[in-house]
Amino acid sequence: LRKPFVGGNWKCNGSRKFINSITNTFNSEIPNIKKVDVCLAPPNIYLERLQNKLRPDWLISAQNCYKEPKGAYTGEISCEMLKDMNIDWVILGHSERRHKFNESSKLIGEKTKMAISKDMNVIFCLGEKLEQRQNGETKRVVVDQLQSLSGIKDWSKIVLAYEPVWAIGTGVVAKPYQAEEVHSFLRQWFAENVSKSVSDQLRIIYGGSVSPNNSVELIEKPNVDGFLVGGYSLKPGFIDIIKNVI
Ligand code: 13P
Repeated sequence: LRKPFVGGNWKCNGSRKFINSITNTFNSEIPNIKKVDVCLAPPNIYLERLQNKLRPDWLISAQNCYKEPKGAYTGEISCEMLKDMNIDWVILGHSERRHKFNESSKLIGEKTKMAISKDMNVIFCLGEKLEQRQNGETKRVVVDQLQSLSGIKDWSKIVLAYEPVWAIGTGVVAKPYQAEEVHSFLRQWFAENVSKSVSDQLRIIYGGSVSPNNSVELIEKPNVDGFLVGGYSLKPGFIDIIKNVI
């Protein structure tokens, strides 16, 4: 029903040399690769280089963009510029943008709407902090984060990434039942608040300390449609994660 999706978020990592060597590995033959969407997000400055080196059947994404098409916004890049460079994907709402750079839900919502209006696809991230989970607030937090998307009509351009903050870069992966609990709650929320068909078709992927090992059990859950991978997207093991979802 839903095509699995594996994203690789390089965050602020990489170099020309690294791209030369990792693409040699990533460009090797992977059986049935057409059965999955794979999308790599390098730092902006390396987007074009990765585009030139990476196999054409993988997608390339930016890690952020601004909410305006152009103007006096020093340091920002716009969706129009990404589109101009043939980049059709952008990650928005990543927990590092929310918490290390204080991006508000409102701003993330505005960016998402701008990206969709420019015909881009968005990997929209949400997830609770440890303290919020311990206080039983997980569902409230993710629903709050979804509110910023109210008004969006074309959900086919969105992949939802559930990334609990306590699992990101910590080595503490969510247990498969924990991921499934939130993913199925989110799918139910879409059925009740958007539509049954959006709920059925929306890909909900999990992110946070995903590895070749733990991806095997996570992907067995019916509402886990793939992964957003950080650390392992910089390693040959990324291929094993892809193979595990096929
Ligand atoms: P790690 O896989 O390194 O925990 O990072 C997850 C993430 O933030 C992907 O966006």
